[in-house]
Amino acid sequence: MTKPEILLIGDYPDWDMEGLTANYTCHQTPHEDLDAETAARIRCVAFKGHSLFTAEMMADMPNLGLIANFGVGYDVIDVAAASSRGIKVTNTPGVLTDDVADLAVGMLIAATRRLLPADAWVRSGDWAAKGNYPLLRTVTGKRAGIMGLGRIGRAIAERLVAFKMDIHYHSRAPKDTPSDWTYHADPVAMAGAVDYVIVALSGGPETAGIVSKEVIAAVGPEGMLVNVSRGSTVDEEALITALQSGALGFAALDVFAVEPECDPRFGTLENTLLQPHQASATIETRQAMGKLQLSNIQAFYAGTPLITPVN
Ligand code: 8YV
Repeated sequence: MTKPEILLIGDYPDWDMEGLTANYTCHQTPHEDLDAETAARIRCVAFKGHSLFTAEMMADMPNLGLIANFGVGYDVIDVAAASSRGIKVTNTPGVLTDDVADLAVGMLIAATRRLLPADAWVRSGDWAAKGNYPLLRTVTGKRAGIMGLGRIGRAIAERLVAFKMDIHYHSRAPKDTPSDWTYHADPVAMAGAVDYVIVALSGGPETAGIVSKEVIAAVGPEGMLVNVSRGSTVDEEALITALQSGALGFAALDVFAVEPECDPRFGTLENTLLQPHQASATIETRQAMGKLQLSNIQAFYAGTPLITPVN
């Protein structure tokens, strides 16, 4: 039997390629370089990365039926355009929750306890030459504010409970939570009520800039912002200005408005901890994400219900 032809967008390691090529003829040419006949045979795109998947791209593949996204966030895919063309979109929720939550907590502790500069203090000989590293602040028992209490936000909150933290959260509506978690309808009010704000929102137009100048000001000079969601959720200009003036104490960021060429001013600031959008980037999780993406593609071709549909 001839294998169905699919288009791969993004880089796939060998373990993903094995499953994909065993079942499908995989095209890896940019979609705009596909000849019209090949483009017409593509019914599925395995999509990975953070470039836009536009309505025009969908139109270039007239028989497209599935965009199988590698990632929980699908903010770069024009899902409304996909739905209007009858194209299904799937994502990879669940399998990355723990790694993303782990990194958020790791960044919170690394930033609060200045693990990277303190490591440099030892390596450079400053410890011997200048004495002990300056005293820092406790993490345990502080107040944490989670922006977005979906799977990932909740997993972060549950971890912070083990640090005896007082949990506050902002989301569109109150959620079913332990009774001592505090809901805030207003993100500014939440930011003003806590020591650390951790952003775990989905990206997209609904949350763009929700971490506004006002939210950042409310986090304040003693506060910290941690972002493991999408750079688009933050007013990045306001963030940089607040970090430069000290109006915001610290930012620990795994995501940026522009990636990978993030704003170079972040790297000049001492009150930042910067990560290369790597919250889900472990072998275990990336393998699980690849398997889920493949299972969705297989379900599509088998005509069985998609495992994790978005639309
Ligand atoms: C990416 C992510 O999928 O799942 C998400 O939403 O942001 C990441 O896990 C990953 O970087 C591959 O592009």
